[in-house]
Amino acid sequence: MPRPLCSDVMLALCRSMLRPHTGRALFCAVQHSSATYLQSFILHNTEVVTDHLTPEIRLHLLTPRCKYWHLRPEHWPYAEPYWAIYWPGGQALARYLLDNPDVVRRRSLLDLGSGCGAVSIAAKMKGASRVVANDIDPVAGAALSLNCQLNGIEDFPFNPENMIGGETGCWDLIVLGDMFYDEELSHSLHHWLRRCMEQHGTVVLIGDPGRGHFLGHPIQKQLRKVAEYSLTDSTKQENYGLSTSAVWKYEPEWHDLHTIM
Ligand SMILES: C[S@@+](CC[C@H](N)C(=O)[O-])C[C@H]1O[C@@H](n2cnc3c(N)ncnc32)[C@H](O)[C@@H]1O
Repeated sequence: MPRPLCSDVMLALCRSMLRPHTGRALFCAVQHSSATYLQSFILHNTEVVTDHLTPEIRLHLLTPRCKYWHLRPEHWPYAEPYWAIYWPGGQALARYLLDNPDVVRRRSLLDLGSGCGAVSIAAKMKGASRVVANDIDPVAGAALSLNCQLNGIEDFPFNPENMIGGETGCWDLIVLGDMFYDEELSHSLHHWLRRCMEQHGTVVLIGDPGRGHFLGHPIQKQLRKVAEYSLTDSTKQENYGLSTSAVWKYEPEWHDLHTIM
């Protein structure tokens, strides 16, 4: 019996197998797809969803009522559609920004691994001065644009480069939802985030529902939980075993900034 696309996606994440996509594979998938085609594909194969922690943000997502939810993954013409799911870490982070607008108002913000773009959209709604969404899946950029339209938000920049490990850039705030799913990625993130703090005093907020790679990572010692939310029933059903999601602030001691390996 074929395994539906979406359960494969969930399984992949639960097994911590989500790997950064290779730029080349994505380039091949996307080069034949104009932005208009991509957007029309997304519109036809997702539905508008509000059954999550931020119902004031409407999102085009993949649900059990969409055709590709039930098809085998190889039928999906692009890289795994992580942007088509609103992950619990992103949900908690967006909820936190909506409820605490002073955290983002008049601040510049980078949403790393932006997926569907909900966290960036929350920041825009609450008056961030500059928002950039970054995701190595360029299809996420098309989804972001549609989700902005859906919420009456003007388009803002989307960056499809892998920024982790590169120049840090001067951001007031970096936010990451559900990005600690893989050991290697978590390690690079830890180092890069530390450099962002050292060089620019950037505030770092992480949304995570308590995944193994996150809870077991050394960064835990330098985090302070600032909020925790109960997930909606539908998010619980899609993320078997999870019931809450939290937001953490990265607060390394000055001493720690110079000693992590
Ligand atoms: C689990 S999803 C989370 C999406 C979104 N933050 C949320 O919480 O709904 C992880 C996202 O990170 C992206 N990603 C993976 N490696 C990345 C990297 N090195 N730089 C930027 N994005 C990356 C994936 O394409 C995917 O969209």
